[in-house]
Amino acid sequence: MSDKYAVIGNPVEHSLSPEIHAGFARETGENITYDRIFAPREGFCDAVLAFRAAGGKGLNVTLPFKHEAWRLAAVRSGFALAAGAANTLSFQGERIEGHNTDGIGLVRDLTSNLRIAVRGKRVLLMGAGGASYGVMEPLLREQPETVVVANRTLEKAIALVGHFEKLQARALRGISARPYEALAGAQFDILINATSAGLEGAMPPLPESVFAPGALAYDMVYARRTPFLDFARRQGVRVSDGLGMLVEQAAESFFIWRGVRPETKPVIARLRQEGGGRRAEG
Ligand code: ATR
Repeated sequence: MSDKYAVIGNPVEHSLSPEIHAGFARETGENITYDRIFAPREGFCDAVLAFRAAGGKGLNVTLPFKHEAWRLAAVRSGFALAAGAANTLSFQGERIEGHNTDGIGLVRDLTSNLRIAVRGKRVLLMGAGGASYGVMEPLLREQPETVVVANRTLEKAIALVGHFEKLQARALRGISARPYEALAGAQFDILINATSAGLEGAMPPLPESVFAPGALAYDMVYARRTPFLDFARRQGVRVSDGLGMLVEQAAESFFIWRGVRPETKPVIARLRQEGGGRRAEG
């Protein structure tokens, strides 16, 4: 009998997680099945409990249920604690454990795949929604010089920075919130777009001068061109979409469930050839 896993969301039909986990299972020889579960907006908890009652061992959770998943978890491990969101649930008997692997996925993609150290770097994090909350702690643990959170609605960036205040000493020069207009004259080494703007063909209003020499522009959106990455290319800057983050967060979930770490590079290479237009944490 194979162990049952699934991704749960609304919508969920475009999720690449089943394909990614099937690839991991083939490669590692783990005997699992991995499906998609569509849950109604008001039906998340019922769907999770029904899946567990039917023998399910764990779930990946995507939009819009990550916060609900966090609330449902009796134990919140590691980065889920501060993120206030869980993208991975693991069923240990009656106990539901919540984890968040999005930020680990981002940091692994930056450091292992793109070979960019975060330590000592000036990081600009665009957006102050769930995607930004999910990656903040893992980014800070890398000890950047600073993390500036920019958002269209400034209050949300201020709230995010306040939420992570206790961890701010991990950045040599701390963390701060700014509106986009206040970025004129500032330069960053790693610019991460965690907004959903790219999905609508838009981008945050950045000044051209915002890229430091040798900067990396990273968009969590994958499998489609985004105005932010096009803008960065025009400035001659190195760019990356969020496909690597997607695969790395999946690998960390797989490790939590199975205790085995799959190879990610072949999976990333295979998916590069396919399309979609989604966001890596979703
Ligand atoms: P999620 O939880 O997935 O991050 P969200 O909470 O809806 O989703 O947040 C989306 C983020 O993208 C927000 O930071 C949003 O900015 P506001 O807080 O000002 O709404 C940002 N965003 C969406 N469209 C944008 C655009 N066209 N330009 C700049 N920021 C945008």
